[in-house]
Amino acid sequence: MPTAEPNTTADNAPNRGAGNLTIREPDDWHLHLRDDAMLAHIVDFTARQFARAIVMPNLVPPVTTIAAAEAYRDRILGALSPGRRFTPLMTAYLTDEIDAGEIGSGYERGVFTACKLYPAGATTNSAAGVTDVAKIGSVLERIQKIGMPLLVHGEVVSPDIDIFDREARFLETVLAPLLRDFPALKVVLEHITTAESVDFVQAAGPTVAATITPHHLRIDRNALFEGGMRPHAYCLPVAKRRHHRTALRQAAISGNPKFFLGTDSAPHLKQDKESACSCAGIFCAPAALESYALTFDEEGALDRLEGFASEFGPRFYGLPLNEGTVTLRREAFTVPETFTRDDISVVPFHAGETLAWRCADR
Ligand code: NCD
Ligand code: ZN
Repeated sequence: MPTAEPNTTADNAPNRGAGNLTIREPDDWHLHLRDDAMLAHIVDFTARQFARAIVMPNLVPPVTTIAAAEAYRDRILGALSPGRRFTPLMTAYLTDEIDAGEIGSGYERGVFTACKLYPAGATTNSAAGVTDVAKIGSVLERIQKIGMPLLVHGEVVSPDIDIFDREARFLETVLAPLLRDFPALKVVLEHITTAESVDFVQAAGPTVAATITPHHLRIDRNALFEGGMRPHAYCLPVAKRRHHRTALRQAAISGNPKFFLGTDSAPHLKQDKESACSCAGIFCAPAALESYALTFDEEGALDRLEGFASEFGPRFYGLPLNEGTVTLRREAFTVPETFTRDDISVVPFHAGETLAWRCADR
């Protein structure tokens, strides 16, 4: 793997005009599945392409206990269409008051796969997050000892710091000191958006990795203002200047196992996105793998997609690789403008665009 049809990527050049691409089944290492009717509406978009996903715990109230994670996992499995095979990997939401014992035993019992650090106020449903990492020292000590990954939303929250600088500032003021104090901690810097994060992760030890979304590989900050304000291009961390996008693309296609796939698909109701105070989050699940394929193809790196999508993540997490395959076909795929069910309407990333790749259902 990957296997390609005769006219394709055998010698890695040129990929344009290539036929189908079959890769090992991928996983999504950062995903928001929401709950209730929204969950039921969206979960199949992910299960169609990905065998497993790391499910973010930022519900209201957040997932902070073993019992809450088990109940949420059951609701996710219950929301899948009949016959879908999909494994949600649950995470614990860290708060100032979180109990290290609950987190540790949740991991040891196989309920939690990782825990998630949201700096309080950094993003959607992060109000209950951590106000100061000094407050969760006992949790960090415990998870370092047992090898439980810490997933990090890497932005400082101070209103004095420009929103485009918040990720870079986090590296200096929070993450670097944290890694000095806990040098063996397994850390995933989630949805990176800057060249500084690429450099930081590359320079760090093997226990530090990063996920990259499909949208941050395609948009830069101009997308937010293209002909008017574009709320569907708004997510956190916000897209940065073009040279950051270039650095992210280079990291994604580099074959460096520290960089792997995490969509950060984060649906919000259409009316909540198209409002005077638009919610942060891009719903990229409906064309996630297609979007990554488009980017890797543009970069002449389709042969690197499988490592990024299907191998580096499970290896970092110490989980087995998936056994099955998915096939991407080079055929026109027009992404719908909206997905509507009853009173729930969501607008996907690439809405209305025709992409050159289509992923057959798993
Ligand atoms: C996410 C959400 O909506 O839950 N939003 C986003 O912009 N990415 C939260 C997050 O991952 O920051
Ligand atoms: Zn997210």
